[in-house]
Amino acid sequence: MTIRQLHLLGSPVLRQRSTPVVAVDDAVRRLVDDLFETMHAAKGVGLAANQIGVARRVAVVDVGEDAPPPLVLINPRIVRASELLETAEEGCLSIPDVYGEVERHLSVTLEALDREARPYTVELSGFKARAAQHEIDHLNGVLFLDHVSAVKRGLLLAKWKKSRKGHSGYVKDVTPEPAGEL
Ligand code: NI
Repeated sequence: MTIRQLHLLGSPVLRQRSTPVVAVDDAVRRLVDDLFETMHAAKGVGLAANQIGVARRVAVVDVGEDAPPPLVLINPRIVRASELLETAEEGCLSIPDVYGEVERHLSVTLEALDREARPYTVELSGFKARAAQHEIDHLNGVLFLDHVSAVKRGLLLAKWKKSRKGHSGYVKDVTPEPAGEL
């Protein structure tokens, strides 16, 4: 397993519609493992393959011990979504330190393939449903910023641009914190 570099807002791959996985082979399983490794190192709760520069329909979600198990989403599809919506604050590993309120379906039913290429269906609610919707958006080239109002998006983008002053390029190394570090 390898901790991969994260692609940040501005990297074209984040705006690409990712292509479906045709066969879940060793390369795809390695991609899944790298996504988990990178997400955990970056202290995220979800990560899509294009965030590490791979435009394929693969993502992972792990919202922690309160809502196991972690999800492997290969070619995920939302087959049912609640009419009930919920608004809550979201962030994204590809847009560090920027947060905005996003409206999502309170619960969704997904179909996807797991790491062993087995099709499964899962019903998610609350934070886990939110995280899955956020990751599936990534696979379609959509970012949470696209869901906030134009005025708010302008403010968040200004904040983002300011924080990027002095940086060049759109990739970032992920350095896990040493064990025992607070
Ligand atoms: Ni994200």
